[in-house]
Amino acid sequence: MASFETLRWRNGRLEMIDQRALPAQCTYLPFDSAQAVADGIRTMVVRGAPAIGCAAAYGVALEARRLKDAAPEVFRAGLERAFEALAQSRPTAVNLFWALGRLREKLAGLDGADQDAVASALLEEAHAMREEDVRLNRLMGGHGAALLPDGARVLTHCNAGALATAGHGTALGVIRSAITGGKKVSVYANETRPFLQGARLTVWELAQDGIPVTLIADVSAGHLMRRGEIDAVIVGADRVAANGDVANKIGTYSVAVLAQRHGIPFYVACPLSTIDLSIASGADIPIEERGIEEVTGYGGTRWAPEGVSVRNPVFDVTPAALVTALVTEKGVVTAPDRDKIRRLFP
Ligand code: MRU
Repeated sequence: MASFETLRWRNGRLEMIDQRALPAQCTYLPFDSAQAVADGIRTMVVRGAPAIGCAAAYGVALEARRLKDAAPEVFRAGLERAFEALAQSRPTAVNLFWALGRLREKLAGLDGADQDAVASALLEEAHAMREEDVRLNRLMGGHGAALLPDGARVLTHCNAGALATAGHGTALGVIRSAITGGKKVSVYANETRPFLQGARLTVWELAQDGIPVTLIADVSAGHLMRRGEIDAVIVGADRVAANGDVANKIGTYSVAVLAQRHGIPFYVACPLSTIDLSIASGADIPIEERGIEEVTGYGGTRWAPEGVSVRNPVFDVTPAALVTALVTEKGVVTAPDRDKIRRLFP
């Protein structure tokens, strides 16, 4: 288990590590409304698909607590606005919409209950989702650990660790579980331009737990693979389509192509809540484009000339054909396709 909590409930508020400040500072920011949580998601205080889902669930619960003494129509309208604001915060990670759907279902089941009881039940549900996320990550880790040979040098892209979830992590959870199980595993972390989730977050979180990690520039991955210095790739996912196509952090597709070229297994670890059966293929997954300042510079330093034309798509889609196996809480699915994915669901 990682030695920090990405999200925690303290004194009637949600607290989240401000991931924008890592690794220089590890500070918690407090949140007491849905709008504040939505802003926190949009501005990357919290990021990573399962962590965003948990944060959104707390966002709805916080709003219900904030408005529980208001008139019924104010309470209802406020909750509706909360769902809306949270749904607008980021488009690609389906866990956000999955979490909001689960809270909506919970709310529907509370028809007739007084507002105090509704607020308590929504908060209980948010707590349950956070605990469940850690439990499922551990299950996933156990299944995926078997894929990594002793001594494996594993490349990962972005941050799919405890910081991207409620704890343990998906891709990094598999690595954590392999190490806990007695294997010697070391990690190569792609820096992950432009937002540097690899350089800032993955390296920090692995170092906290004493897991050996080497940071590389994204462009070094092919070189190391050609020299036989990478044994496996494992990444997380933001949304997996019904046919097994995987949307994940921009640059994942390039890593998958390189892995195939060099005969290196390419694994994707994600909970079932990341699989979107309503989306037939990766072509239909909405891909977020963020501000150009993430590409023209970093942290207030600008390196690109003023006026240059810039695009900043922050996710890409890796076709299922490049995925050696999908690791979920239900087990490992090799060569994932529509039928195998369908069978994961009751
Ligand atoms: O833009 P981010 O940092 O939210 O993107 C995160 C990723 O792409 C992760 O790899 C993905 O959410 C999996 S997290 C377990």
